[in-house]
Amino acid sequence: MLSLNKIAKCLLSNSRTFQTSAAVKHDALYNHRDTKEDNLDIKFKFTDDNKKRIDAILAIYPEGHKRAAMIPLLDLAQRQHGWLPISAMHAVADILNLPKMRVYEVATFYTMFMRKPTGKYHVQVCTTTPCWLRGSDDVLSCLKKKLNIGVGETSKDGQWTLSEVECLGACVNAPMVQINDDYYEDLSTKDMESIVDDLKNGKTPTPGPRSTRYASEPINGLTSLKEEPYGPGFQVRPDL
Ligand code: FES
Repeated sequence: MLSLNKIAKCLLSNSRTFQTSAAVKHDALYNHRDTKEDNLDIKFKFTDDNKKRIDAILAIYPEGHKRAAMIPLLDLAQRQHGWLPISAMHAVADILNLPKMRVYEVATFYTMFMRKPTGKYHVQVCTTTPCWLRGSDDVLSCLKKKLNIGVGETSKDGQWTLSEVECLGACVNAPMVQINDDYYEDLSTKDMESIVDDLKNGKTPTPGPRSTRYASEPINGLTSLKEEPYGPGFQVRPDL
């Protein structure tokens, strides 16, 4: 039988690390640390309007499956508060009658949930391959310079938060950024500057492509599907 000493020596001589902290490779906070803005002493309550919205959301889900409303409720809490403090997560857990851990799991998995104070304008720059090939690095540098903040930071006036994100599903209109709920696409650095200027001046820039495109059609006109669509029954056996 091995003595405890021998076991300890054996473990120490093994160079493989059994347990390490996860490397920080993102700009979002996934662990809760009490801060002056985010601690259990700060209470969170849904507004009366949002309580009505919660009732409407819960009504969509059948009995026994109300927990499926967790993401809409977390989103509602975030829209009300501007980001998602721990007390808001607890409020959602209470409404859904779930252990708090179930809510933490969801809120920390999806990057759409912001776990620290976030600016009035949350600028999310996609830097995944299609956007990167089309100049997202330039767009990101332009934003860092214009807003005077780095990725994962919020400006001192609380107006801007800059995030670097993975594909936002608008690759055909790369490069693109999402600002709050709006997508701005086919961007040049000039476009980016003018969008930020407009927002700073209280205007709402028109979302969508900044090129001549209406949506995601080819920029120099159609290359296929140019003829009139065939009518019903095309190439179908006459007896059918
Ligand atoms: S790669 Fe940027 S939206 Fe898909």
